Amino acid sequence: MAARLITLNQFIVERQKDFPCSEGRLSRLLADIGAAAKIISREVNKAGLVDILGADGSTNVQGEEVQKLDAYANNTFISFLRNGGECAVIASEEDEDVIITEDAYVHTNPKYVVAMDPLDGSSNIDVNASIGTIFSIYRRRSKQGEASKADVLQKGSEQVASGYVIYGSSTMLVLTTGNGVNGFTLDPSIGEFCLSHPKIRIKPDGKIFSVNEGNYHAFNPGVKKFIEWCKDPAKEEGPLKARYIGSLVADFHRNLLKGGIFMYPSTAETPNGKLRLVYECNPMAFIVEQAGGRATNGTVRIMDIQPTELHQRVPYAVGSENLMDQLHTTLGVWG
Ligand code: AHG
Ligand code: MN
Ligand code: MN
Repeated sequence: MAARLITLNQFIVERQKDFPCSEGRLSRLLADIGAAAKIISREVNKAGLVDILGADGSTNVQGEEVQKLDAYANNTFISFLRNGGECAVIASEEDEDVIITEDAYVHTNPKYVVAMDPLDGSSNIDVNASIGTIFSIYRRRSKQGEASKADVLQKGSEQVASGYVIYGSSTMLVLTTGNGVNGFTLDPSIGEFCLSHPKIRIKPDGKIFSVNEGNYHAFNPGVKKFIEWCKDPAKEEGPLKARYIGSLVADFHRNLLKGGIFMYPSTAETPNGKLRLVYECNPMAFIVEQAGGRATNGTVRIMDIQPTELHQRVPYAVGSENLMDQLHTTLGVWG
């Protein structure tokens, strides 16, 4: 007998039992995100045809204006989240300020807020390397009709769900609702995300380190020492493998499945590193912790940091438990 196929939507409905108070509204929101991801996946897969179909700002063969892929992904997510009626506020990397989606839906009293990086790793589009989407879901804090930026500025530990979509050799959606991590692969022939990676766990001992070593000269001495440890052939497990794509989603996904550590540390010029706390670091931190790993800024747990700005950056290290321990031992700080 063939193994039972479980689609994302079936899985979400089954998981509804975990949220008895949410009356199916979180399920609806997650289904909207899955639907938006399928549309973006379709668009990403034909990105190489952009020169044929028309570049940004021009018109394509259908006479429609062609958008840059990150703007397209942003607009698609916003439109699904807005029309779904379950999301009160959206924060996006692409938008300076939050978007209050509640306005048209005050009557439905949306219960959730979403922070997202609609297209991560966009510099990789031109070279056919993997890119992704990252999302994070919180319960709103405000009263009906009073949604604001404060609803999004919550600690990562308050997340209700988070996930990412990787547009790679296949498209996958990886999700946590706080009860483990599950991965779904898009089967384009039926247009459904199907459960392909149930109960993902990250190995405690990884063999991969991922960091932009081009910035080595500017890292602090502790980070340099840790990188030297990673490369040291004299240690029992030998040198780790260096792997760095330059797409957080793709680097994180590989390390989650194979075991490893990813870092975007601070430098003298960029004391907060590069990555954004609210819609890049926190969602990935929730996933990695749910898979048995860790995420810190080198000192404290990422999900314990109180965000003060929508687009604030943090130094970031995320990955396998023992590698994270080694990092903190080497840095000499562990909060
Ligand atoms: P985005 O495309 O959303 O702006 O994010 C790019 C980020 C992230 O995906 C990646 O980890 C990092 O930039 C790579 O930065 P460097 O090129 O400085 O290594
Ligand atoms: Mn990004
Ligand atoms: Mn982006």
